[in-house]
Amino acid sequence: MLNLRICSLRRLTAFALAGVVAATFIARAEDRSPNAATQAEGVVAHGGMVVAQEARAARIGVDILQKGGNAVDAAVAVGFALAVSYPRAGNIGGGGFMMIHLANGEDTAIDYRETAPGAINAGSFLDAQGNADPQKSRASALAIGVPGTVAGLALAEQKYGSGHFTLADLIAPAIAMARDGITLDENMTDEQTNILARLAHWPAAAKIFLKADGSGLAAGDRLVQSDLANTLDSIAHDGPDAFYEGPIAWKIAAAVQSAGGVMTVDDLKDYRAVERAPVRGSYRGYDIVSMPPPSSGGVELIEMLNILEGYDLAHDDATQTLYLMIEAMKRAYADRALFLGDPDKVKNPVAQLISKDYAARWRATIDPQRATPASEIHAGAAADSEGHNTTHFSIVDRFGNAVSNTYTLNFSYGVGLVADGTGILLNNELDDFAAKPEAPNAYGLIGFEANEPGPGKRPLSSMTPTIVLKDGKPFLITGSPGGSRIITTVLQVIVNVIDRGMGIAEAVAAPRVHNQWTPDQVYAEPALSPDILAALESRGDRVVPQRLFTSAESILMTPEGLVGAADPRTAGALAVGY
Ligand code: DON
Repeated sequence: MLNLRICSLRRLTAFALAGVVAATFIARAEDRSPNAATQAEGVVAHGGMVVAQEARAARIGVDILQKGGNAVDAAVAVGFALAVSYPRAGNIGGGGFMMIHLANGEDTAIDYRETAPGAINAGSFLDAQGNADPQKSRASALAIGVPGTVAGLALAEQKYGSGHFTLADLIAPAIAMARDGITLDENMTDEQTNILARLAHWPAAAKIFLKADGSGLAAGDRLVQSDLANTLDSIAHDGPDAFYEGPIAWKIAAAVQSAGGVMTVDDLKDYRAVERAPVRGSYRGYDIVSMPPPSSGGVELIEMLNILEGYDLAHDDATQTLYLMIEAMKRAYADRALFLGDPDKVKNPVAQLISKDYAARWRATIDPQRATPASEIHAGAAADSEGHNTTHFSIVDRFGNAVSNTYTLNFSYGVGLVADGTGILLNNELDDFAAKPEAPNAYGLIGFEANEPGPGKRPLSSMTPTIVLKDGKPFLITGSPGGSRIITTVLQVIVNVIDRGMGIAEAVAAPRVHNQWTPDQVYAEPALSPDILAALESRGDRVVPQRLFTSAESILMTPEGLVGAADPRTAGALAVGY
């Protein structure tokens, strides 16, 4: 299969190149769309650093670091805090991935991705005609995966926490915020009609997150989450079993089933977070440590970096660098669609996909001047996404430990359903399965058998929490929300730092491009210079504008200290250190 596709790439149509105009990579401030910050500044610290998409949670993490906690302690506290202070994406009703680098040199990955309930099968998200039914996989209770966050955070703390804090200590700040309430800032309010409708659909969610007239909460309003406080309190007292067994689990299963879903108390009881060996690669003398399947992120990131390593990006102009990155993206995303899925259920050809030889074969198919039309590789499908639905945080402590964590409910507020009496917002993660071969998910990603729905199976993810090491020590910690755009975001942050010599704030703020093989188009952020866009189009790429919906909360180790960069695309994100 691989060879066939490489051969088909060799027969590519040529496109004429006309008028490539060199342009700066960072656009002028006035080119940026209004919701992007006009400048990005790094925050320097020498003790520890937390960069997160919500400021209260970031400060809670730094407080734990200052009290002698390690990066994992802080990550667990931030993870529970965001479930309260950033409910559109922070969660205990969803799942995610935590990459950990330990000061002793060990790297590990905690996989707390949601699993499909036992009654889910390959036909679960099809309509009566056998077509993929997005309503089922995105908006119905069938879409809800068994949540992994509580098990994942508890596993991380038990194995890799400093031992100076109990799980209860780390949950306490979240409980206080849920019980006492928080005053909402501008960046925490939602006015989009699709989000309000999602919440309004479920009375238990509406009574917490909407006003009586159905409008959204406004800046200055107080969000009190008493049921969530009680749920967190039970977890603090009795550990993760309080979530997966007993009254909370009964309420989750009852809520899902009465909404038409199939999750049972046994599905919850059977859930396990899994520790996995990270996927590892190298790039120009740096080690890349990232998330293995069931994320596609680490494999595809390394595959793209391997392809790009064969070029002199440090001396190429901005257009050529972007062009080559786009060509690498198309090829990696084609592989993603065909080959990757839950490693506990299907075989993933990871070693092949991340090998330097394999990248060299892909590289041989790239014409340096003429874009490869993805339509010749495979038929396309349309993307339909929304932003801010996932959340990433990066943490470094003074001991040399680092955590890169991305977790999600999939859409903003997941499926929108709160299990009545628990305050827990539930995900719609099962849309990340390929409901049917070639039927796009909400991010336009397609897939085949490897990622078909199945009982107990984890849907393939794009979340790419990543730690770049230099001489075995943390150098760059990064990751992002953004669905299919996550992997290419992480790629560009790494290339901007390593090849283009940017500081971390500049590397994070720089406008990004994205290509996911199908549909055959390059998504470009508004700040990219029109000259660069014209140059890409002249090589045969179809460029379409995209909203800013990734957010690479990052930390770079420099001779001056730790430099944290909150992505200016997220209002309210904060880098804070001590
Ligand atoms: O796991 C995934 O790849 C998706 N469910 C992540 C969704 C996401 O990042 C949405 N964010 N804007």
